[in-house]
Amino acid sequence: MPLDMILGAQWGDEGKGRITDLLAVKADITARFSGGDNAGHTVTVGSQIYKLHLIPSGIIHPHTLCILGNGMVINPERFIAELDDLKKLGVDISPERLKISRAAHILTPAHIALDGAQESQRGGLKIGTTRRGIGPAYVDKAARRGIRAGAMEKPDTFARLIREHVAAANKLLERIYGQPPLDAEAISARFHQIATRLKPYLADTGSKIAEALEAGKTVLAEGAQGTLLDIDHGSYPYVTSSSPTAPGALLGLGIGPSFLQRIIGVTKAFQTRVGEGPFPTELTGPEGDLLRGTGENPWDEFGTTTGRPRRCGWLDLVLLRYAARVNGFTELTLTKLDILSGISPLQVCTAYSCNGLSSPNLTDTPDAIGSYMPVYTELPGWAEPITSVRSPDKLPAGAQQYIRLIETETNLPVRMVSVGPERDALIHR
Ligand code: IMP
Repeated sequence: MPLDMILGAQWGDEGKGRITDLLAVKADITARFSGGDNAGHTVTVGSQIYKLHLIPSGIIHPHTLCILGNGMVINPERFIAELDDLKKLGVDISPERLKISRAAHILTPAHIALDGAQESQRGGLKIGTTRRGIGPAYVDKAARRGIRAGAMEKPDTFARLIREHVAAANKLLERIYGQPPLDAEAISARFHQIATRLKPYLADTGSKIAEALEAGKTVLAEGAQGTLLDIDHGSYPYVTSSSPTAPGALLGLGIGPSFLQRIIGVTKAFQTRVGEGPFPTELTGPEGDLLRGTGENPWDEFGTTTGRPRRCGWLDLVLLRYAARVNGFTELTLTKLDILSGISPLQVCTAYSCNGLSSPNLTDTPDAIGSYMPVYTELPGWAEPITSVRSPDKLPAGAQQYIRLIETETNLPVRMVSVGPERDALIHR
């Protein structure tokens, strides 16, 4: 025991990777459970920056077994590229360290082509997907015609399934979307080679996790995306196609809740979102630019996966309370508090108003938030840089007040606060 979870409390990009990196030191297993390479986790170790999309951040720690769970959709070409990049950086990527669930689904170039074609066809109503094929891969899974990773055990059969899948997708691409067909033979041949290479990585990962927990080991579930992108609980249809929330973690790993201990909600000190969809506290002027940064630094608010500038706004505690309910958070981690240094005054959304009525809680599903007006609580903020602070009582009074407001309003303790991009720029409370 136990099973701990690190989950995004907002629209993704909360800085979960570095928290996983920190907690993975004590974890025997680190596991991803949903999504695919639409995620982008950046971990900075000294001058080395690791950019991970599919492989759990725990891979950086040599003692940790890393798992890609059954809830994921895996682009095997991207997986191999990530393996090769990590190997060049000296990371051990042997199959003893890294396992793919046989029940995870395979994402192919046909899914990517369909994602792009569907987004283009939506025009002004586009979702703003990462165009990594995530939606179409989950469509195939739900339609019970997907290809699971376990099929790679038999490369010949796998190659045939891939050929048939691409041929079927070509019909859609050509007839519905007016797109050129993909070369099914060439993709099938590539995937045959991939299967031969990836076979040793396949496993029944659910039983590995269960055995570890029974033996008293620690398992860390590493969330990707965030609560408000959840297919059920997010701002539908501007969501991803999986469940990046606590219940999704159990489903995507193949274990029940009995070993669950810490459910850590990670939230930035402000709000960001990439892609389309409602965002009540969005700042479109110079204040938003201040939060976003210029893009010169890797930690500025530009997507790790797509490079798109993120939309930025004030922290929204109505949505944070909602995320706490959906996930059952036991604690919060607050990231990028340092970015707020020097911004005065600070606004925090503590209620929504609609037709003259205001409520501290979301009384509707998050797809409706576009029709609410944020009600702000104003705080004075603080002027000093805080990047070198390591102890909570050394934070300026304005920063302590900001954290206390979050704790009071969510009824959750903020146990960790990140104050800079470096691995050790963390305050434990
Ligand atoms: P998809 O997951 O590529 O289908 O994209 C659906 C929505 O989720 C879009 O708004 C994306 O920008 C957003 N999204 C997907 N993955 C991430 C992520 O890791 N961080 C932030 N947003 C994401």
